[in-house]
Formats: sequence, C-alpha cells, structure tokens
Amino acid sequence: MHADATGPTSCERTDCTVRSRPAFTINEIVHAFIIAQLQSTPAAKVEMDTWYEQSQRRSPVRAAENSKRLTLISLADAKSSDGLEEAVRQGLSRESKTLPCRYFYDEVGSEIFEQICDLPEYYLTRAEHEILRDRAPEIAGWFEGPTTVVELGSGSSTKTRVLIEAFLKRHGALKYVPLDISKTMLEESAKALLGDYPALEIFAIAAEYGRGLARIREEEQSRKLIVFLGSSIGNFRREDAASFLREVRATMRPDDRLLLGIDLRKSADVLENAYDDAAGVTARFNKNILSRINTELAGDFELDEFAHQAVVNEEVGRVEMHLVSRRSQQVRLDALDLDITFDEHESIHTENSYKYSPGEIDELAASADLRRVAQWLDTKQQFSLSLFAPECSS
Ligand SMILES: C[S@@+](CC[C@H](N)C(=O)[O-])C[C@H]1O[C@@H](n2cnc3c(N)ncnc32)[C@H](O)[C@@H]1O
Repeated sequence: MHADATGPTSCERTDCTVRSRPAFTINEIVHAFIIAQLQSTPAAKVEMDTWYEQSQRRSPVRAAENSKRLTLISLADAKSSDGLEEAVRQGLSRESKTLPCRYFYDEVGSEIFEQICDLPEYYLTRAEHEILRDRAPEIAGWFEGPTTVVELGSGSSTKTRVLIEAFLKRHGALKYVPLDISKTMLEESAKALLGDYPALEIFAIAAEYGRGLARIREEEQSRKLIVFLGSSIGNFRREDAASFLREVRATMRPDDRLLLGIDLRKSADVLENAYDDAAGVTARFNKNILSRINTELAGDFELDEFAHQAVVNEEVGRVEMHLVSRRSQQVRLDALDLDITFDEHESIHTENSYKYSPGEIDELAASADLRRVAQWLDTKQQFSLSLFAPECSS
C-alpha cells in the first residue's frame, strides 16, 4: 500500500468554488425521467423499464418502490452494435487488420468477461477488489454530504458494491450513475443493486463513454466521485488515454474526484497467463467478436480456424490480443458485400491492455490536469487504485 499524504481538503481553495446542493428528491428523479422522455429525438431515446411491469405482478409494492429509484436512459449510440459495420469494413480492409475492443461487449461477451474475472490467472479483479474492500470506508470518508458515484464502463458493478455500501453506511443514501455500452448488463446489475440496497437511487446511462460523459455534464448533480475500474483505461493507447481523461476532467467540478484502477507493469509470464488462461475462457471472449460479425453481418468466419494469442509487447508496456488465422482462407461478410482474405498466420489485432508504472500514472493524470491525492496498491503490489482531484486553476 502506498498512500499520499495530501488530505481530502487540499483543493478547497477560494478559487475552487464548491457548488453544493441538497440531496436529490424523488421529484427530481421523476422530473429527470420526464425530461428524458421528452428528449425522444433521434439522438436520445428513453425506454421504460419492462422489468417494472413484470416484477410488479410478482411483488407490487416492492417493484413500485424500486421503479421510483431507477431511471434508465439509452442514448443514440447505446446499441452495442452501433458503428460495427463501418468498424469491421475499415478494420478488416487494412494491411494490419484490427477490430475495436468495444465490440467484445454484446450480451454474450459481457457474460464471458464476468467468467474471466473469476479465473485464477486473472489477478486484476481480485487485486482491485482487495484494495476497494480495504479502502472503501476511507474513500467514502473524503466526501461530506450528498454524493453521486458515477461509474464508467460499470459492467456488473460487482466490485463497486463495497464502495456503494461504504457510502450508504456513511451518508445513509447515495445516487449511483452507472454508464455502459452493454445495456443488458447495465439493466441487470441496476435491478440487482436496487433489490439489495433500499437507500440507493440509480440513474443508469446506456451509452458509449463520450456521449455518456456529455450527458453527465448536462446533469445538475451533487458532489461526484467518478469511478473507472478494471484497468479499462489500459485499453486506450497512451495518448488516447490522456485525451479520454481530459474529457473526464471536463466533467468534474473542483470538489469532484476521480477513482482510477490501473494495472501495473509486471513480468511477461504473469501477463501472458492472465490474458491466455488454461481453461480457454479469454480465447472464447476474443473469438466472440467473430461470432458477432457472423450473426450481425452475415459472416462465415470459422472460429476454429483462428487461434487466440496474447502477446506481451514489453517495449511499449502492453499486452496485445490477436486472432491468428491458422491457414490461408477467405471470409465472406454478406451484409457488407465484402470478401476478406487471410494469409496463414495473419492476425487481427483485437485489444491492447497498457500497463503503467506509478510514475507513468502520475504523468498520465498530469497531462489531463489531474492531481493525485491518494494511491493504494494490493498486497502483492500488482494493481493500483488512485484518487485524483482536478488541478485548481489559479
Ligand atoms: C473490462 S470491462 C470492466 C467492467 C467493470 N468495470 C470491471 O472492472 O469489472 C469493460 C466494461 O466497459 C464497457 N465498455 C467497453 N467499451 C465501452 C465504451 N466505448 N463505452 C461505454 N462502455 C464501454 C463494457 O461493456 C464493459 O462492461
């Protein structure tokens, strides 16, 4: 564990005006929902939760109470297949073939990712959970009064539960804003959380990060803790990670904080095992992108003719995931009227996971005008969780 000495009030300078407001009320939530409904333009669509109707039949009082605590909005790019056609056409027509990793996360991919989190080789989830479990009360202690916890790429929100519990224990109530491209996972986890935490309010946003962050900027909110876990920042190239954090920074007021989970640089063998497990779960996750293309773009990829490969590129400090063609072959995508030719051993590069040293984490944050106020590592020193404040303009 490594903790910075800077205390929670270190940014409370007079030029950092804190805009505080009372906790949201049911009226506000209903109002937000109505506004969202009125915004049913091509750019924003609100979907009423059918789960409410189903569960109302089973337990009317409970379901009615839960529904009042849930707002779910679906932004225009919320379909996890949004942009898939163009991404596939462009990525597979290149000399070095690529596919964007966001397309891993359809319903099946999100489920497989949950299985990855339980793998013995995938230390990331356990290490981050350990830090959160040990530090959640301390993190909640940085916030006085009403707080909104915003989570980017929230997935199943499993690890976030300890944080939610710590905030509920300290403040009695909490507004949680999970944002994820995977709408099914978002809905399922929101329902589970509402069932388990009666004092929790959820404003769930099904959207791509950029559009979701823009939506969050529009919301009048109490003090925010923005959470980005799972080392998902590592999926961006280093320069793109900095631009992404600048976008997050633009969503923060002076008294907001960012909690960022980042995997640390480590030996190649540990990384290779983590991204190429013995049970072949990560291989299934990687190949799911080809299944999606087969289903959604009428493709004829033969999954067994591609091998999952995790390559540690030590020079740039990242793990690359590839799908390598086992033979020379041609794949047809009817929906795109496209034939793609693969040489034997030719790869599709599907994901990067960049690793950071503590110094690189600070550099990354500084490039986004963020200042580290605390940092914790797990007992094996494999993973980091850092708390950042916006640099105050003087
Ligand atoms: C690696 S998983 C991490 C999930 C969870 N935060 C954790 O730490 O276990 C990445 C999550 O981000 C979501 N995601 C990936 N790309 C996204 C994007 N461009 N916009 C919004 N969500 C995205 C995925 O659906 C998935 O739930």
